[in-house]
Amino acid sequence: MELPPFELERWLDEYESDADLMLAESGVRSLPADRFDLNVGELGYVIPTDGSPEFRAKIAERYSRSPEEVVLTCGTQEADYLTFMSLLSEDDHSVVISPTYQSLKSVPAAIGDVTSVPSEPPNWELPVDAVAEAIQPETQLVVLTNPSNPTGKYLDPETMDALYDLVAENDAYLLVDEIYRMLADDPHPPAASLGPRAISTAGVSKSYGLAGARLGWVVADTDVANTVRKWKDYTTISPPLIGHHIAQQALGEQESEILEANRAHAKANRERVAEFADRYDLDWFEPTGVNGFLTVPDGFDNGKEFCRTLFEEESVVLAPGDVFGYPNRFRIGFGLHTDELKEGLERVGRHIEQYI
Ligand SMILES: Cc1ncc(COP(=O)(O)O)c(C=O)c1O
Repeated sequence: MELPPFELERWLDEYESDADLMLAESGVRSLPADRFDLNVGELGYVIPTDGSPEFRAKIAERYSRSPEEVVLTCGTQEADYLTFMSLLSEDDHSVVISPTYQSLKSVPAAIGDVTSVPSEPPNWELPVDAVAEAIQPETQLVVLTNPSNPTGKYLDPETMDALYDLVAENDAYLLVDEIYRMLADDPHPPAASLGPRAISTAGVSKSYGLAGARLGWVVADTDVANTVRKWKDYTTISPPLIGHHIAQQALGEQESEILEANRAHAKANRERVAEFADRYDLDWFEPTGVNGFLTVPDGFDNGKEFCRTLFEEESVVLAPGDVFGYPNRFRIGFGLHTDELKEGLERVGRHIEQYI
């Protein structure tokens, strides 16, 4: 199995550490560790290694599933990866909704075959008929992020029901990465609650501002969950003990306070980005979460040129749409502290004005 370089990560690696302002982070600003109890006693494994039964039971409840159907992982990235490893082999086909977070396409494409089905700007609707057309007898998975990274589109429950029915009729699985779901003001029921043919992955990195906790999960029927457990023995054995302890508090007694603050923060910053997009006449779609996928301003050949010159002249990092296969766009992450966002938008605006 050969994986291509992860273009977004390579881009960030090149520019992030030297820049004044980072407007390419896709999550909400991080929470300080000292708001949590950090005392875990001895630094051993989480036992059992798929997460504590009490925590798995709490997560399972949210999906109307049983604790056996939940496996805790080192972040959502691992949850997605293990799901692909568990479900796909060389002869299998996946349908991937684009644009998307690269691993959700690159991993299934490295194992088997992939057909991309684009969601449609300006509102990033997903044509379910196009998904139906892309399904083949070998199709094992239909994959998407909801809310989407990078577009911020949050597909409505009717579309998700239609997708689920389509996938179930074809004896495939629907894999939905829902890492941004809890940033919605009123989250829809999660995918795994739709039925046994849907799999949800998620974690605390983005909606909760806890990327350093490295805690995610897969919710899938027992057969798939058990295969995920089998694969996980070869990757990280157990989730991180400290991350597990922090995530229990974040999804427990601290949850409503964290989510209320994060949603209010996202809303206030989103309004600033909407004004910015309007001022510079860039395509703006009201996203759920903290990512906007805007058109590249006139005067630049593509997203990479715009983002590279912005870094060189204003020391601000954005993510070029090229890394998502959309070179006429760029992704702005507006989950950062508001004073940094204000300063960042001023610099981006100055850069655009120089080239008009
Ligand atoms: C859709 C999606 N899934 C997974 C990840 C990685 O998540 P984690 O930090 O929980 O591993 C990201 C990070 O940007 C993402 O956007």
